[in-house]
Amino acid sequence: MKSSIFLCFFVFLFLGGNAQVRQLVTLDSNWKFINKEVAGAEKPETNTANWETVSVPHDWAIKGPFDKEIDAQKVRVTQDMEKEARMRTGRTGALPHIGIGWYRKTFELPGLKAGKKVLLVFDGAMSDAHVWLNGKEVGNHPYGYAYFYFDISDYLKDGENILAVRLENPSNSSRWYPGAGIYRKVQIIVKDETSFKQWGTFITTPFVSEEVAKVNIKSDVNGEDVRLVTDIVDADGNVVASKTSDEKFGKTIEQNIAVPHPEIWDTESPYLYTAHSKLFEGNELKDELVTRFGIRSVVYERGKGLILNGEVTKFKGVCLHHDLGPLGAAVNKAALKRQLTILKDMGCNAIRSSHNMPSHEQLELCDEMGFLFMAESFDEWAKAKVKNGYNRWFNDWAEKDVVNLVRATRNHPSIVMWSSGNEVPDQWGDEGVKRAKWLQDIFHREDPTRPVTVGMDQVANTMKNGFGAIIDVPGLNYRLPLYGEAYQRFPQGFILGSETASTVSSRGVYKFPVEEYKQKTYGDFQSSSYDLEACNWSNIPDDDFVWQDDYDWVIGEFVWTGFDYLGEPTPYNEAWPSRSSYFGICDLAGLPKDRYYLYRSRWNTKEETLHILPHWNWDGREGETTPVFVYTSYNTAELFVNGVSQGKRTKNREERLDRYRLRWMDVKYEPGTLKVVAFDDNGNPVAEQEIHTAGKPHHLELSADREVISADGKDLSYVTVSVVDKDGNLCPNADNQLNFEVSGAGEFKAVCNGDATSLEMFHIPTMKAFSGKLVVTVQSTKEAGEIELQVKGKGLKSNTIKIRSNT
Ligand code: GAL
Repeated sequence: MKSSIFLCFFVFLFLGGNAQVRQLVTLDSNWKFINKEVAGAEKPETNTANWETVSVPHDWAIKGPFDKEIDAQKVRVTQDMEKEARMRTGRTGALPHIGIGWYRKTFELPGLKAGKKVLLVFDGAMSDAHVWLNGKEVGNHPYGYAYFYFDISDYLKDGENILAVRLENPSNSSRWYPGAGIYRKVQIIVKDETSFKQWGTFITTPFVSEEVAKVNIKSDVNGEDVRLVTDIVDADGNVVASKTSDEKFGKTIEQNIAVPHPEIWDTESPYLYTAHSKLFEGNELKDELVTRFGIRSVVYERGKGLILNGEVTKFKGVCLHHDLGPLGAAVNKAALKRQLTILKDMGCNAIRSSHNMPSHEQLELCDEMGFLFMAESFDEWAKAKVKNGYNRWFNDWAEKDVVNLVRATRNHPSIVMWSSGNEVPDQWGDEGVKRAKWLQDIFHREDPTRPVTVGMDQVANTMKNGFGAIIDVPGLNYRLPLYGEAYQRFPQGFILGSETASTVSSRGVYKFPVEEYKQKTYGDFQSSSYDLEACNWSNIPDDDFVWQDDYDWVIGEFVWTGFDYLGEPTPYNEAWPSRSSYFGICDLAGLPKDRYYLYRSRWNTKEETLHILPHWNWDGREGETTPVFVYTSYNTAELFVNGVSQGKRTKNREERLDRYRLRWMDVKYEPGTLKVVAFDDNGNPVAEQEIHTAGKPHHLELSADREVISADGKDLSYVTVSVVDKDGNLCPNADNQLNFEVSGAGEFKAVCNGDATSLEMFHIPTMKAFSGKLVVTVQSTKEAGEIELQVKGKGLKSNTIKIRSNT
């Protein structure tokens, strides 16, 4: 029987009025997958009857189960200042990502004419991809985060084509959960031999003023007597400038186009234009390409750092790993958008893709939502951090991987800096200094408009050996005590906190006595949300704020991390069942921890922040000292316990812990109401907040981040479920087992409670609440209609929420 599945839909990109000079086909559905070695699986005759049917993006490991033995790594992590090797469980998430996975996909390209050029483009495959078409090996690309493509024109045949992809993840190849499988999109591009080269268009805006912007477009083309017509189109679809050119410099046509009175791209109003490029041979249209770009000016100045459109702009940034918590590494645009929406509200203006190439979806969103982006390439160069890491590929592949990174992403206005590496052990030794220069030169060759950084942790050494002096933007990971000396000794005239804080906390968990600690651990494997716990090498947020606020030459920071991620459960690296991080400003479910409001109080300068911690349910602590902190955008506030004033506090720049927080250290716990009143600088009360001691868990409250989603089979609504008492107060200690049922035009996708020690699987529709909350992710189908999520828990009044899914 014909096992082939026809490409169920073609995504033709009809550009302009002239149809089909270029087709784009996304290979997303009906892939066959098996999670083991199968001899001869690349051969067309292989029987895939017992293979699973999956859609791509796909992460084969996220359904678990968690297992302590998976990739347990016995290592001495010098970056963590360890003196001896230790067994780290959960370092890579304890999910079954190790091993071999095979994918097969059958497709047809009906109407494909002889002489067409066909490219197969992967946005990323984890890892060591080997690709066959119709039984013939097309090529391989090892780095799991790299974008790559193959010309498959000569491998295609009429009718059914069989694509086979083999991936392999060895143990000891990552420091975090890398995901597994074809976790980003795969596309086929069909175009003419005479056409725009893949990733060959480079748009820059070398001159920007209110009156006019100069848009420079370099287009690499295949073809001889060609003519290029470019229209610059604004966000409303109006053509604002055009140019026709037929002069080539080698394979490149260069155009300079004036755009009068340009709308500027910035973080507040991220205005986007598109360049519509048409390539003609004689009068025949051969290719069309639409490239989105922004008009903005990016320069870096001594003593100031980034000047965006003439304004000094400090990085209020976060580092992000690529996993999406309960969804694993499989890219989903709605999940990425939710993250960025949460970060935007915090006042965050920048993202660092740590420590590898970002997804195109994430960059598109950053362009649209107004985030600055540091696009990173590697966590390792030639010297290993983990035995089977990128060090195995560096010498042969690093240049290609950097070239692909830059060419595939350089038109994104959000990218304002490249990073060639993170804490690479090559910071030591002459070879490493040469590698730093070699890589930076490749970035400069491919993109002369943006600087390059490296996140350095061996700062004392890189001050001596010349490494730090080479890098365009000296990035310091932690190492606050060396900021002053580094500024003096490095020639660039500024430094960047390329990675900061690494404060650890668990949402809604508070420990006593309230003190500052390094590497503190507790019997329940949680960290305190008073935000005073960091690692040996790191610090609390307040310490970074001081440097950012007091020294103009500190050009901003990228906090480790915006969201918790799978793997790296510091400070519980050896403590099973810890399997995900505690570093996040938000937890793995995306729920803000208290720290979110500390950053928000400083970063979001437009909106008020007034947040009280801890919760006020301390049965058994009656009469005991229970400090209260308030994170607020106001300078002064007064605290009341059951109406009794605990005094006013005002931020005090002379006291390290009182400069950014308001603290009442001597409050004695008594159940009831905790209320804070904030005052403006004239002493007028302007805002208040209160929290109440909650009674017994009574019912469930459901709230969706989006109540209307698209019926595209991909879109997501995130429903936060809170266990509340009869009056609607959050029960902050509730850990009820909850069950979920989705009906109508959607599906249950995942659930996550943010507890780094939970071994309940994300895809099974039951989970315990953690600190009274969890988040259910619901996915649309391709049918429009109403989606209903029902949540039940023993002894609790159940609840349902309705979400609309529209075409
Ligand atoms: C840094 C490293 C990050 C993460 C972090 C945890 O040294 O660059 O990847 O491991 O420490 O604090």
